[in-house]
Amino acid sequence: MSERIPVGILGTTGTVGARLVRLLADHPWFEIAEVGASDRSAGGRLGDLLAGEAGPLPERVASLEVRSLSGSWSSPVILSALPSSVAREIEPALAGAGHLVVSNASTFRNDPDVPLVIPEVNAHHLALLERQRGRWPGAIVTNPNCVVTGLAMALAPLHERFGIVRAVATTFQAISGAGKPGPPAGDLVDNVLPFIAGEEEKVAYEPRKILGALEDGALRDAPFRVGVTATRVNVLHGHLVSVSVELEGAPGPDEVLDALRSWEGRTAGLGLPSAPARALEVTDDPTRPQPRLDRDRSGGMTVTVGRVRPCEALGISFLALAHNLDRGAAGAALLNAELCRVKGLVEAASPRPS
Ligand SMILES: NC(=O)c1ccc[n+]([C@@H]2O[C@H](COP(=O)([O-])OP(=O)(O)OC[C@H]3O[C@@H](n4cnc5c(N)ncnc54)[C@H](OP(=O)(O)O)[C@@H]3O)[C@@H](O)[C@H]2O)c1
Repeated sequence: MSERIPVGILGTTGTVGARLVRLLADHPWFEIAEVGASDRSAGGRLGDLLAGEAGPLPERVASLEVRSLSGSWSSPVILSALPSSVAREIEPALAGAGHLVVSNASTFRNDPDVPLVIPEVNAHHLALLERQRGRWPGAIVTNPNCVVTGLAMALAPLHERFGIVRAVATTFQAISGAGKPGPPAGDLVDNVLPFIAGEEEKVAYEPRKILGALEDGALRDAPFRVGVTATRVNVLHGHLVSVSVELEGAPGPDEVLDALRSWEGRTAGLGLPSAPARALEVTDDPTRPQPRLDRDRSGGMTVTVGRVRPCEALGISFLALAHNLDRGAAGAALLNAELCRVKGLVEAASPRPS
């Protein structure tokens, strides 16, 4: 028996689930032990259902049988890539059965007891788990919406150094962010879709929670407001976001560049296998960042910021790019699971025997 920690994946046949399988197939700490999806997939062989989407898989992983969500799970850590409506029932049930649930779904992101974590930005928000003790023996930890991750990581050094007054963000989001089956090809070619249902509310709120302050064990949202327009563009992977921001003290581009370039984040020295050497890469090339050229930096875990410049309206403008499936979803959840492990939360999980 391997000494790696067994994990379960929920929604394993979806866009994010497939990426989780790929990232976990040869992970040094975790081992895929259980995989679940809808009744439509239950009983199928994982390798057949993914049909190459997760790349070549070791036979042990490819031959796992996909199960339905009903019944008990044995792994201490459950990574969830379920639609939010499905997560609403199953994630609290699993936390109630003692599991550590690390979720991509939006369902519990705004819950005041549930940490919404990007390890480099707010690893300390895991302290909110104390507030879950009265609710269930396990825990739920969430990662942000896929376009919020890049936005919040670019805003974090600026909020820490100067303080954000307000921001305006326009997103250019990739097709894979929509999950399966995604928008019809005929709608995307030669076009930009100017509305993504439910997205703008998440982009407006989640950075405020992520950059919020812990006070007496509770979280106070950061006070700034974000105006958002979310669009879908004809790009396969990689969410680009154009940001204008007003900062306390009205720093110029050089000071902002210094804050971005010198930011180290909160994972230095933790040895998390999925943490990139540099969480933020800042480019001076006026033609970057571009999704095709920059999304795969450090296995898709580095956020690229560029075109930092003065803005006539709010003070500073820039663009940020993050791979939506790696830094924005599967890699984000995996990094959270790794953070939980070094914080002793994985060992603390004790699934009830059925
Ligand atoms: N795509 C992204 O970039 C991204 C980024 C961040 C967060 N997220 C979030 O991550 C979650 C998954 O997104 P996705 O894009 O991977 O979605 P997706 O491609 O639609 O996949 C959904 C997965 O959930 C399973 N599922 C659907 N209905 C189910 C049910 N009633 N019972 C059990 N399993 C069910 C599906 O199984 P079957 O194959 O059997 O139907 C599939 O494995 C969502 O909450 C999404 O908002 C996505």
